[in-house]
Amino acid sequence: MEIIEKAPAKLNLTLDALYKREDGYHELEMVMTTVDLADHITLKNLPEDEIIIRTTSGVLPLDKRNHAFQAAKLMKETFQIKKGVEITIEKKIPIAAGLAGGSSDAAATLRGLNRLWELNLSLDELADLGAKVGSDVPFCVYGGTAFVTGRGDQIQHIGTMPQCWVVLVKPRVGVSTGTVFSALSFEELVHPNTNEMIAAIQNEDYQEMIQNVGNVLEHITIARHPDIERIKYKMLKFGADAALMSGSGPTVFALCEKYSRAQRVYNGLKGFCKEVYLVRTLK
Ligand code: C5P
Repeated sequence: MEIIEKAPAKLNLTLDALYKREDGYHELEMVMTTVDLADHITLKNLPEDEIIIRTTSGVLPLDKRNHAFQAAKLMKETFQIKKGVEITIEKKIPIAAGLAGGSSDAAATLRGLNRLWELNLSLDELADLGAKVGSDVPFCVYGGTAFVTGRGDQIQHIGTMPQCWVVLVKPRVGVSTGTVFSALSFEELVHPNTNEMIAAIQNEDYQEMIQNVGNVLEHITIARHPDIERIKYKMLKFGADAALMSGSGPTVFALCEKYSRAQRVYNGLKGFCKEVYLVRTLK
């Protein structure tokens, strides 16, 4: 038997940090949504007790550094599964980009192994397991649009985000989430209005939504990679309704209500960056 799971990328419409916790993580408030740029995870039982990762990506680690590997190991240990599994990752989401590609692969692995091994776990139970793999995994277990708090592990669904087009631009730099968070100073923070964003989504109010995007990590990553600011400027110049960095970066996304605008932003940015995607939000 073969199980296939889709692993969509996530965007942060807002990312706010409230304080640094005693466990070293930051207490966050985020509004996250999924887009239709996705990896595909194929799972197959193996007779030997082993986890084998195969991938179309040349750079993804195939060992315990891989989030899908960690998710499979956790499932095997927690439920004492003696079978092995082959995990094939068809990679489409840029790596180390602020789009939770690795976390979404881990979440899809948890959902898929739940089916393959007939464990009958609920999504809530899978999300609790996912939190052990990484902070973004619980949201990726559910997908959709959610208000996410804690270190990323508390998920409240808030309805469907107003549908629009999304242009994603991934600059050619790698960013470490831990390094970005460690440079965060609470004195100089301009907090996004998370409540306004939640209300905008619940009211399906696109105009309110685009006015309330915000990310407290953006200025930190921009200070190290000024290209992000240039990309944002170009996106807005080509007609984007809003432009923001996702997660700890470096990917920047533009929101466009009209397809013609999104195409103009896509074409304009294509001349500036190699990795540019035009996608839709997911329901
Ligand atoms: O949980 P994850 O391994 O994805 O987090 C990567 C790093 O990001 C953590 O080691 C931590 O430095 C930082 N982080 C944080 N607060 C969070 C989530 C992540 O400081 N809520």
